[in-house]
Order: sequence, then structure tokens, then C-alpha cells
Amino acid sequence: MAENLLKGKVGIITGALDENSIAWKTAIKAHEQGAKFVLTNAPIAMRMGAIKELAEQCGTIVIPADATSLEDIEKLYAEAKEYLGGNFDFLLHSIGMSPNIRKGRSYGDLNYDWAMKSYDVSAISFHKMMQVAEKMDVMKEWSSIMGLSYIAAQRVFPFYTDMADAKALLESIARGYGYRFGKAKKVRVNTISQSPTKTTAGTGIGGFDAFFNFADKMSPLGNASAEACADYIITMFSDLTRYVTMQNLFHDGGYSTTGISEELMEQFKDL
Ligand code: NAI
Repeated sequence: MAENLLKGKVGIITGALDENSIAWKTAIKAHEQGAKFVLTNAPIAMRMGAIKELAEQCGTIVIPADATSLEDIEKLYAEAKEYLGGNFDFLLHSIGMSPNIRKGRSYGDLNYDWAMKSYDVSAISFHKMMQVAEKMDVMKEWSSIMGLSYIAAQRVFPFYTDMADAKALLESIARGYGYRFGKAKKVRVNTISQSPTKTTAGTGIGGFDAFFNFADKMSPLGNASAEACADYIITMFSDLTRYVTMQNLFHDGGYSTTGISEELMEQFKDL
């Protein structure tokens, strides 16, 4: 598909760890649609090397940056602006990590230092990226900033522990900064609430296979794939969605508005 939806647009894509990452698929599609961008990830993720292959494929560079560090973000924007030749049309925040989930801590047994890390990496970094962008004045008018969320921000998914709170904060930041950036410079800010997706971040969550399959059976269209999510992100970066802002957009095959599906009813009828 080469409609050139992003022709002439430049931006930054965070979070491409490997070919399963939502950000990875987004980079490939953004490249196909004519965008120029730089890739970035935490220095630790960089050592795994895969992102360099993606950069080659997309004809671009990788600039390491820890999204929780204001200095790293400042350096990222300065170098990206230099490389891309000007201010940005889009920013993708595709970052999430919870030490509590990684180490199997339940919601009633959180390590609070780790919880603060989860909130900082998964949510406050979104605010940091926007605050630094505003202060450095690196966003163009009518540019688009996206983050990625999950329905555990609104409904209880017990295995999602402190990431549920991080996602609620992320969505709130999208509204708060969306208002501010809209007024200041007509920049739009949204989150996409994505179906469970088989990525490193996704499959690290306890019971992932069960809730992936459950969501797939619940959703009339089935779970949305990472690739489909990337398509949605591209449309949100394009000029076709210029008045969408401060929204949490469900991209979940209908999951969030389905009470029960026939497939699931079938499984419970004889209990
Ligand atoms: P992924 O594991 O491929 O991507 C997560 C990325 O966050 C990695 O590239 C990782 O290096 C990066 N990261 C972690 N700490 C960082 C830091 N301090 N600074 C900069 N980058 C850092 O997994 P996925 O699924 O593509 O995750 C992308 C986003 O999508 C996350 O916000 C995730 O919560 C969200 N999401 C994922 C779902 C899923 O089921 N996989 C469902 C709904 C939302």
C-alpha cells in the first residue's frame, strides 16, 4: 500500500524492540507511506541490535534515549531535528515496562520503588516527551502525538497490576497535554487502546495467552493485530484526522463494547 499518506512528514518513533513490536510495524508502514523519521529506544534495548536492521530498512538512524531522562529527550530532539532538517509532524510513544509484572508481584504486594519506575517509564515519560517538545518548540502546527494504551485503564484485569494504573495516567496525560498543546500550537494528542498483542511487553504479562484468547472470542472482529494497529497510527499521523484530539481510541475489534459473544455463551451454558 503506497498512498503516500505521510509524504513530506517527519517525526520520531520510539519503542521498536524487535519485529513483533507495534512500533516496528509502524516504522515500516510510515516508511512505505513516505515519511522520514528517526528511531529511538532505551540504550539497553539498543544493545540487542535488531533496531539497527530496522533503521537500515527504513533508511534512517537510531538515536538512543531513555524516555525517563529529560536530558536524553532534549538530546534526541536536537539530533533528530538536525537529521530531519526541521520540526516534527509526528511523535510515537510506544513504551511500556513494569518491574512488578516482570518479577511476578501481585497488586497487593507491589514494590513501590518498582511501581514508581512503571509509572515513570510507561506514563510520565509521555508527559516528559511533550513537555520537552513544547519547551524546545519542536512540533509543527497540526502535528500529531500518539501513545499506546490498554483497556485495563478503565476495567479491572487483575494480572495487569501497576500497569493498569500507569495506563490510566497515560490516558489522562493525553487529555491534559492535548488541551494545552492544542491551544498553544494546534498539536493533537491521542492514545490508541489496543487489543492484547503478542509482543515482548504483551507476553510478559501473567496469563497472557488466556486473556488474548478470551479477547479474541469476545470481539466480533477478533483481536486487532500489531500490523492493524500500525495502520491506525498512520491514519492518526496523517492529515485525514486533524480534528481528533484528547481521545482514547479503542482499536480492539469491538471488545470494549461487547457484553458477551455467542462463542463465550456456548462455553458457559452447561455449568
Ligand atoms: P515491545 O516490548 O515491543 O515495546 C515496548 C518498548 O518500550 C520496547 O522497545 C522497550 O525497549 C521500550 N522501553 C522500555 N523502557 C524504556 C525506556 N526507559 N525508554 C525508552 N524506551 C523504553 O511491546 P509493544 O507491545 O509493542 O509495546 C508498545 C506499547 O503498546 C506499550 O505502551 C504497551 O503497553 C502498549 N500496548 C501493548 C499491548 C500488548 O498486548 N502488547 C496492548 C495494549 C497496549
